[in-house]
Amino acid sequence: MRDFISTRELSAASIYSILETAEAMRNKPESIQSGRFAANLFFEPSTRTKTSFQVAEQKLGMKTLDFQMESSSMTKGESLYDTARTYEAIGAELLVVRHACDHWYDELAGRMSIPIINAGAGKGEHPTQSMLDLLTIYQEFGSFGNLNVAIAGDIKHSRVARSNAYALKTLGANVCFAAAPGFEDDSLDIPHVSMDEACDMCDVLMLLRIQHERHASASYRTKSYHADYGLTIARERQMQDHAVILHPAPVNRGVEIDTRLVECNRSRIFKQMENGVYTRMAIISILLNERGVNHENFTEKCKTIAT
Ligand code: CP
Repeated sequence: MRDFISTRELSAASIYSILETAEAMRNKPESIQSGRFAANLFFEPSTRTKTSFQVAEQKLGMKTLDFQMESSSMTKGESLYDTARTYEAIGAELLVVRHACDHWYDELAGRMSIPIINAGAGKGEHPTQSMLDLLTIYQEFGSFGNLNVAIAGDIKHSRVARSNAYALKTLGANVCFAAAPGFEDDSLDIPHVSMDEACDMCDVLMLLRIQHERHASASYRTKSYHADYGLTIARERQMQDHAVILHPAPVNRGVEIDTRLVECNRSRIFKQMENGVYTRMAIISILLNERGVNHENFTEKCKTIAT
């Protein structure tokens, strides 16, 4: 694994290696050789992903290089590739990028000698979010085979839905989508069900917010969205006793989820955020190890990870 761009080509063995390494990081963090620099290039707003990458890098003993688009030389016309190469030339040994383009990484692919991590690509993929979601499910159920996972919300504009659909199918889970008209995605060969059916049958209900910033025109800004397609109190009562609620956040309380359910007993939303740190530590460690940047005591199973 040279870069971490998509969950599409990840094998089940690779995913389990990331999850097990994340669990190991949670129990006993291991430092990378000190003095290494990581560059976090965020061209879109972020609270969770950016902060958890910073924390993950610093827990690993790395120094973090921040980036502000507005004060960078990209305002003078510098390309993403030249910006990335500049950070590499100055000494960054890891590049984390979030960008509004679905395939921003095509501009860098095969042209960088340091690992690149996709921290969110338009409505394309968000693979590190998927890995932290999987870690949260793994902690809950211990396996994925035949687990019923319903992904509900604005599927069409969601990079989280796509990355999770690929990875969950690889792991043998039964995945379905529940979406309002216009928010469906038929490109992924995943069945669509109603929100009521999703709540009845799921082991995991993964909610998504409406991605207004990726819509061509305003839509579903009315109160009826919550009643028609959201997780209401009544729908939560339909769920199986053991079923859990996930959401990548930010949450729009009262829209895709009743505000009283955000921190209810079933909710793992803040657990997901905590898991984001360990998952990102694991991915960084595996990538740097692949490039020959060693830890003091890095586990053998991480050294043999293969996609
Ligand atoms: N889940 C997620 O990507 O959140 P941020 O946009 O705050 O990083």
